[in-house]
Amino acid sequence: MKKIPIIIDCDPGCDDTIALLLAFANKSLDIRGITVSAGNVHINNTTENTRRLVGAFNSKIKIAKGCEKPMFKTIVTAPEVHGESGLGEVVLPRTEKELETLNAVEFLSKILRDTTEKITVVITGPMTNIAVFLMTYPELKEKIEKFVIMGGSSIGGNVTPAAEFNIYVDAEAADIVFKSGVEIVLCPLDVTMNAFVEEEELLRIKSIGTLAADIAFGAINHALNFYKDTYGRKNVPMHDPCTIAYLLKEDMFEGKKVFVGTELKGEFTYGETIIDYNDKLKQPKNALVLNKINREAFIEMLYNSIKSL
Ligand code: BDR
Ligand code: CA
Repeated sequence: MKKIPIIIDCDPGCDDTIALLLAFANKSLDIRGITVSAGNVHINNTTENTRRLVGAFNSKIKIAKGCEKPMFKTIVTAPEVHGESGLGEVVLPRTEKELETLNAVEFLSKILRDTTEKITVVITGPMTNIAVFLMTYPELKEKIEKFVIMGGSSIGGNVTPAAEFNIYVDAEAADIVFKSGVEIVLCPLDVTMNAFVEEEELLRIKSIGTLAADIAFGAINHALNFYKDTYGRKNVPMHDPCTIAYLLKEDMFEGKKVFVGTELKGEFTYGETIIDYNDKLKQPKNALVLNKINREAFIEMLYNSIKSL
């Protein structure tokens, strides 16, 4: 079977870590590189977490560090969700893995310039790196197969009443990506809130007893405690892994091709995504928005993938 070439732009991050484990475990994906964004925690921490994850599971993958700050604002992070390091209490093994000397934007441009086939770009953090890349090298857009993005919401926000975290951190960047003309598959909270892991499912993952299982357990458990304390939920949504799960098994999801816009001016709504399911605005439809998931199939995929590492 032909592998799907991808680049992952991420900010690990508890759920980014699970997305990376899913990607590492599935040989149908050909990971051409990882670019790191600032978001859940400072860029130095997201980069260190990425380096150690790659060092532990597939040290051949190249990693480039990305922008330290959003395009026009100061950075907002989420240590309350992901812990100070970005990975809760998880301590990843040290690694000798080195970073690329190119920064994320130059690294992306190099991979895309050199490729003869189109590459899918998965984005699981604020979109600063990708927006700066699109502004700097618009001619390389045609080398992108599509963006598969975790971000946005039509069901209320998780950082403000209106805005989802990844969009809120750099809404101007998100706006550039949504207007880029590149094909987009969007995993907003609409779908990711239903991609949850129950406590007993998490214990089943823990019982695998490997390094990957320990890391997955620690990362998910940290987020679970946050969701319990903050929202009284007994389960934890796996936002970012939905992107990889979609690439592995599209028919696990349902969605609709619609217009998605980003609110940049509202007093209370900065970073809100307008997801026009009913075509009220009569705008060009720029994204396939996923809004349903076969959760049981997703959990099986997660379990089997972690077990295979
Ligand atoms: C998104 O925000 C981050 O905290 C998560 O890693 C995910 O990418 C969910 O809103
Ligand atoms: Ca993330």
